[in-house]
Amino acid sequence: MKYNKKYDINIIKLNKTYLDDKNNKTTALKNISFNVKKGSMLALLGPNGAGKSTLINILAGIVNKTSGDVFINGRNHELEERAAKQSIGVVPQELVIDPYFTPRETLEFQAGYYGIKKSDRITLKLLRDLKLEKKENAYVRHLSGGMKRRLMIAKAMVHSPQVLILDEPTAGVDVTLRELLWQNIKDLNKKGVTILITTHYLEEAEALCDDVAIINKGEIVINGNIKKLVKKIDKKILKIYFYNLKTLPDGLKKIGFRKHKSNEIFINYQPSKNSIDGLINEVARYNIKIKDISIKDATLEDLFKKITR
Ligand SMILES: Nc1ncnc2c1ncn2[C@@H]1O[C@H](COP(=O)(O)OP(=O)(O)O)[C@@H](O)[C@H]1O
Ligand SMILES: [Mg+2]
Repeated sequence: MKYNKKYDINIIKLNKTYLDDKNNKTTALKNISFNVKKGSMLALLGPNGAGKSTLINILAGIVNKTSGDVFINGRNHELEERAAKQSIGVVPQELVIDPYFTPRETLEFQAGYYGIKKSDRITLKLLRDLKLEKKENAYVRHLSGGMKRRLMIAKAMVHSPQVLILDEPTAGVDVTLRELLWQNIKDLNKKGVTILITTHYLEEAEALCDDVAIINKGEIVINGNIKKLVKKIDKKILKIYFYNLKTLPDGLKKIGFRKHKSNEIFINYQPSKNSIDGLINEVARYNIKIKDISIKDATLEDLFKKITR
């Protein structure tokens, strides 16, 4: 039962087995251990049913674990439940806000729930930070989907928690609003809030998060710095564009080049085994004039597919 001060979330050998009315068992988490560094932003990824919401709900104190230990900001979530709860804000997967309240009332009510004195409340600041100040007195039911999502985030922040956990906050939100939401979340992170977020939008996770933990069938299969892990995938795509290419020479086909569209070929290659100039020299042998080339690096999506396949 040790925790490390470097971390804001410490999960040690956590297990969860659900039991239904007929005593059927579903093991959702199998002995998982991982940490989230203070001030970092971690993407928790995994296919549907992997156990992401179960983990988040245990952190939130909504679901009881079967065994294991959890520390939030150094507080044991069981033995120091109150302190642990003060340190965490959770944005659940489902929207839970009263449609007949205004954003301002929603935040005031939530602050009251946490026992925060009127003079210590940060309602206006939160409304401003999450770009809701113009709608502070509108009924929640009249807010757009994106505004409701932002209000959920504000609601999770009324007690200024050190840790913010978000369960698919951008699911079903259009591209522009998604960008805005991610920006709002990143802004909180820049102010020092430690973030754990689950999402299916891997490109956005790669752009904004520092670390990743991938969970599959209740087990953490990989955890670490996104850039470092993606760099380790020995895979790139080289594309070559021509002015006029009738057929792909057999010699190039043999190396692994494929024709993509007319005048365009590509190869999936391993940088550790093939060099770019070697590949281009192979192409140059055929005296076909090259118009342009592009190289695509591996992505978080490649890592995700490799691991969850
Ligand atoms: N309340 C519950 N009772 C029984 N089984 C559950 C319950 N909640 C989730 N599960 C099961 O636990 C597993 C993990 O689910 P969940 O944590 O929701 O995954 P995710 O959020 O990654 O999609 C699934 O097999 C799911 O069916
Ligand atoms: Mg879920």
